[in-house]
Amino acid sequence: MNSSADYTKTSRMRTAQSRRSALRWLVHVTLISSAIVSLVLEPVLTLHVAFGLVFVLFVGFHLAQRRRISQRLAVRLLKVQKLLGPAGRLALADGFLFIITVAMLFSGFWDLWAPHHTKIRWHAITGVVLTIYLVVHTARRWRRLRFSQIR
Ligand code: HEM
Ligand code: HEM
Repeated sequence: MNSSADYTKTSRMRTAQSRRSALRWLVHVTLISSAIVSLVLEPVLTLHVAFGLVFVLFVGFHLAQRRRISQRLAVRLLKVQKLLGPAGRLALADGFLFIITVAMLFSGFWDLWAPHHTKIRWHAITGVVLTIYLVVHTARRWRRLRFSQIR
């Protein structure tokens, strides 16, 4: 009786885990495709902006799915003496990724709404840096892309 209840509980936990894993996969696929489509469609500004905003929205979901890790990394950023360790370097890298995403978004809206471009093309610069950084971030986590498990 007890072992059958245990079995049901384990199988329910497994189903929930594989559902979460599938949701993370869906978010990863949307992140990659919205970034690519936004870049490819850059000459069609409305579509570039629309897919760019989908990308930013899904970055929000991506971070929400990693709430605990993101909070731990943010706290680590405040402990300067620990920044040189592996976890500190991860915090720095992810912190930079976050800042460059926000900078790309702000400069994108600036270019969209201001009467003329900034002299330094901030959106072009942050857009290109973000793209390179995303390739590195994704390539280093390639094996976790499909079956991401967060404990
Ligand atoms: C093309 C877009 C992106 C893809 C495909 C992607 C993919 C991934 C993958 C596969 C992981 C590992 C998940 C795991 O441990 O199970 C991860 C982790 C993470 N990502 Fe992303 N990501 C993207 C963009 C971003 C952006 C823009 C940010 C920040 C604003 C970000 C922040 C993080 C953080 C904080 C983690 C957890 C710690 C780490 O492994 O670095 N990601 N991402
Ligand atoms: C995946 C995210 C995005 C990337 C990687 C990206 C990158 C770029 C790049 C490389 C350009 C060409 C710049 C040039 O020719 O000088 C561009 C143009 C532009 N983007 Fe984005 N962008 C993204 C999202 C957005 C968003 C969300 C907005 C609006 C809020 C936006 C607004 C614009 C505007 C108005 C232009 C044309 C004017 C300009 O050159 O700055 N972009 N983008």
